[in-house]
Amino acid sequence: TPLFVGLDVGGTTMKAAVVDDNGTPLSKPVVMNTEPERGQEAGLETMCETIRRAVAAAKLTMADITAIGVATPGLMDLKAGLILDPPNLKPWKNVPVRDRIQNVFKLPTIYQNDANAAAYGEFWVGAGQDATSMVLFTLGTGVGGGIILGDYILEGEHSHGGELGHMRIESPQYGRRCGCGARGCLEAYGSASSVVRRTRDELAEWRGPSKLKAYYTANDDELTAKVIFDIADKGDDLARKIVDDTAYYLALGACAVIATVDPDMIVFGGGMAVAESFRAKIHEYVVRFGLTHPVKQVKVAFAKLGSDAGFIGTAGGARLAMKKLPRPE
Ligand code: BGC
Ligand code: NA
Ligand code: ZN
Repeated sequence: TPLFVGLDVGGTTMKAAVVDDNGTPLSKPVVMNTEPERGQEAGLETMCETIRRAVAAAKLTMADITAIGVATPGLMDLKAGLILDPPNLKPWKNVPVRDRIQNVFKLPTIYQNDANAAAYGEFWVGAGQDATSMVLFTLGTGVGGGIILGDYILEGEHSHGGELGHMRIESPQYGRRCGCGARGCLEAYGSASSVVRRTRDELAEWRGPSKLKAYYTANDDELTAKVIFDIADKGDDLARKIVDDTAYYLALGACAVIATVDPDMIVFGGGMAVAESFRAKIHEYVVRFGLTHPVKQVKVAFAKLGSDAGFIGTAGGARLAMKKLPRPE
């Protein structure tokens, strides 16, 4: 049975494991620090080393592997196999990820967007296992998106298919500034880091009592979206307002996608998507703001694979690519 290595590169760490034909990892993922500030040559070497260690962790050799899948945050050029200019991997620019890995290991290597990979992972063996089509929003440092239609991963003509974090949901003139340089992107409202930023702004204005305020004063640097959302679950007006606003913005994005794609299921992933108050609100808003008729049939669900979705999904992407016959000339 064919085996695939999946490597998911993030701004802080990268993870890899060998995954079998059924989407099961053969070991815990090998995790290494990305350290983009050490430069892209060091980054490429770490990627190769993470792959080697993942194969060793499964007690295999490279000869046992059929293909490699690699995923990175965008923006990227999938045809050329390059990361272009990703805000969360500064100072990398035009990094030849696919060709380097392919040349080192002499194995078919496929290259994908990180959120597209995570979406395929959830579709293959996670929250979307029984769905016929699925859209994923990942809420992390950025807002990632992935659109899966059957076994088709929508990559678009210019590699930017599913860049849902950069949909404009607020004014391009007055909206909050996004890491991509534009204003009003969904990522500037719905990512974990922008939730913290919005909370700091709200706290500066907030006059009432607040558990969040007490927490913030006691642990300045510890304020994370997960903490804020957990405090909302325990009952706190300010934290609830933040959760409510975040769900509102994400629902606007989700409803734009529903009107475009009309998927079977929409899935939200990331640490903050675990909070009960968020889950209830996003559900309510998607139903309230969506198309009157079809939205009633869209399932809203939450990711199941956690941070494993990326490497499982990109191994799955490699598996799909190996199954596909090339288009006749
Ligand atoms: C990038 C996406 C990526 C997402 C999550 C966004 O800023 O544009 O390509 O999927 O962050 O990492
Ligand atoms: Na994407
Ligand atoms: Zn943006």
